[in-house]
Amino acid sequence: MPATKTQFVCQSCGSTQPRWLGRCPSCGAWNTFAEEQITPRSGRSRGKVDKPSSQPQVLADLVPDQSPRLPGNLPELDRVLGGGFVKASSVLIGGDPGVGKSTLLLQAAASVASKGCGVLYVSAEEAPAQIRLRSDRLDLACYDLQVLGESDNSEAIKWAEKLKPGMVVVDSIQTLRRTDLESAPGTVTQVREVASSWTDWAKQNESVVVLIGHVTKEGAIAGPRVVEHLVDAVLLFEGDHVGDVRILRTLKNRFGPTGELGVFEMSTRGLKGVENPSKLFLSQGGERLPGVAVSAVINGSRPMLIELQALVTRSFFSAPQRNATGVDQRRLSLWIAVLEKRVGLVLAGQDVFLNAAGGLRLEDAAADLAAVTAIASSLKDQPVRPDTVLIGEVGLTGEVRAVGSLERRLSEAAHLAFKRAVIPATGWKNKSFDGIEVIPVGSLDEALEVSLADR
Ligand SMILES: Nc1ncnc2c1ncn2[C@@H]1O[C@H](COP(=O)(O)OP(=O)(O)OP(=O)(O)O)[C@@H](O)[C@H]1O
Ligand SMILES: [Mg+2]
Repeated sequence: MPATKTQFVCQSCGSTQPRWLGRCPSCGAWNTFAEEQITPRSGRSRGKVDKPSSQPQVLADLVPDQSPRLPGNLPELDRVLGGGFVKASSVLIGGDPGVGKSTLLLQAAASVASKGCGVLYVSAEEAPAQIRLRSDRLDLACYDLQVLGESDNSEAIKWAEKLKPGMVVVDSIQTLRRTDLESAPGTVTQVREVASSWTDWAKQNESVVVLIGHVTKEGAIAGPRVVEHLVDAVLLFEGDHVGDVRILRTLKNRFGPTGELGVFEMSTRGLKGVENPSKLFLSQGGERLPGVAVSAVINGSRPMLIELQALVTRSFFSAPQRNATGVDQRRLSLWIAVLEKRVGLVLAGQDVFLNAAGGLRLEDAAADLAAVTAIASSLKDQPVRPDTVLIGEVGLTGEVRAVGSLERRLSEAAHLAFKRAVIPATGWKNKSFDGIEVIPVGSLDEALEVSLADR
């Protein structure tokens, strides 16, 4: 029996040290080292050079991998995966507690099972009877869906070996443990080992393994990024805790595009894909109010219209509040500075709040123009002119810069009956597009001039 050693593992980045340190030399985090026992692998002696067991092959002679996909039969999930689960691959899906991870995967597992593919749902978090309760609530017809209540990873793997399912769901990676390691479930060593054992199993058995992970308080899925490197795809399931909208996004995908978004609505009958998210992210009221502006953003392959709402009010604090939801706080500060310096609006002494509607996180710079216009609109108390969509990146000098995929953005706006589009002047010639009046602008001043209605 090999001797057990002790090491200290940083719970933030996964680096190891032979002794405890207050600060991690790799990631700089304080007080993150935890003691863990390691049992060195026995068998082949370490360092000894053996005959290689694998053979290098000429790239041109290799047959391309045409692994068939296993559709989850939830179109929004399949879109995010790039057309369904890829056989012999592992997927990590992370999300906040209660966001609906188990619901999503049980729905996907049931529909995969309904196509005649064996599925094993390993639950270390909930008893099988609770999963049955959920499946009844979601009204799922589970044909060949086996549920295993087990927290010992080796036992779960043994069952997978025996049943040979086409898909395994592990709920969750932080609660399963390898009993031969002394560290507690959820620690870096355990999570890494559990993830790598399932990833190896998926590759050897041509199966799909989906690992559910909790997002840690630092914002990483299932602890340090080391797990994200092990798996083939990493998805993040997010919700805004208040509404029913849930967003699934790809952080990494070895077999498909990243940046793709899946939009769901949570109901008593489970998660339902939203086919036209633009409608969801626009308020239904006909009358336009000051502080509201609409932009067209692109997420992966799909354009979406999104409403930005700003509220600018006199501050009663010595340092006015600048509060952004769904938008990076630093971008909000930058837009306020540009409005002050380049347009001459006075925002000192004003609290500024900016929200992206529907819990969507805005990453597309094309929404800059709408955000800046929403702030100016609220400050001046002048609404944006009706049926106007604003598309463009705002530069530090107050210029409106070109953005990509303009036609796709305009088509989506036309689809939702918008009549006017304020867009960057560079790279566009036509006066109209698909029934939309197109208004090219070069600067923020010009954009505000054509966008804001009279009071
Ligand atoms: N009876 C119900 N009616 C409507 N929605 C429900 C009902 N029961 C649960 N939900 C929804 O399902 C969510 C919990 O889903 P689920 O258990 O799949 O989340 P989870 O991400 O797996 O949570 P955890 O992190 O605890 O494992 C709740 O937050 C709620 O939105
Ligand atoms: Mg769960």
